[in-house]
Amino acid sequence: MFVTTKLWVQDGGEDGAKRAFAQSLARLGLDYLDLYLIHQPFGDYYSAWRAMQDLYQQGLITAIGVANFHLDRLVDLIDHNDLAPAVNQVETHPFYQRQADQQLMGERGVQLESWGPFAEGRNHLFSDPTLSQIGAGYGKSVAQVVLRWLIQRQVVVIPKSVRPERMAENLQVFDFQLTDQEMGRIAAMDTGTSLFFDHHDPEMASQIGNTRRTSSA
Ligand SMILES: NC(=O)c1ccc[n+]([C@@H]2O[C@H](COP(=O)([O-])OP(=O)(O)OC[C@H]3O[C@@H](n4cnc5c(N)ncnc54)[C@H](OP(=O)(O)O)[C@@H]3O)[C@@H](O)[C@H]2O)c1
Repeated sequence: MFVTTKLWVQDGGEDGAKRAFAQSLARLGLDYLDLYLIHQPFGDYYSAWRAMQDLYQQGLITAIGVANFHLDRLVDLIDHNDLAPAVNQVETHPFYQRQADQQLMGERGVQLESWGPFAEGRNHLFSDPTLSQIGAGYGKSVAQVVLRWLIQRQVVVIPKSVRPERMAENLQVFDFQLTDQEMGRIAAMDTGTSLFFDHHDPEMASQIGNTRRTSSA
């Protein structure tokens, strides 16, 4: 088990972040977290990061990181704090591959973690002809091909399923290896843009910054 949870935008600030962290631990029934992330690059996340550095130094969190940080915000956060995020959890899938982002994150010691590895099924991912054809060669599903492709790129991946049989399927990705040619065919699927949000869009920034999630760990 590896438990991650995230700090919501409105819980920014040093006191807010420490309070939200304590509430998350209580809800989860845990006395430490494996990974705690700042969910969005909005609000008072510099103060939140200072609080998270403290919690990390006290041993209450094994690793601290961020999510949805574009490179400018990521680099700025790193340059003006003691600790760099261990992880940046960002939308990453065959239609939005973030190869250049991954390169720079690597140079700054930040691990890319993919959210939405299946693009949540958008763009007909699960029936995509290229991915289906590659999978057929190994007796593997599209989902397994996508996960294998991310793992071979050294991307940490957190597929979501509510179905036990799919959870098992999503773990069966360590008994085959995509060739360079297959990796290249998937690389050619990149559109270079998000299928979900533009974090540089002021309306989106305001919407995310002013929407409080009602239930979370
Ligand atoms: N940091 C952020 O801002 C952020 C944003 C979004 C998501 N996330 C996180 O990212 C993780 C990934 O979740 P996600 O929901 O974004 O997207 P995802 O993993 O790309 O897609 C999930 C969808 O794929 C289906 N699925 C899973 N395995 C499958 C398989 N083997 N075959 C066919 N369909 C399959 C699921 O359906 P079933 O459940 O019915 O199997 C679900 O509809 C979650 O932990 C989520 O919390 C983070």
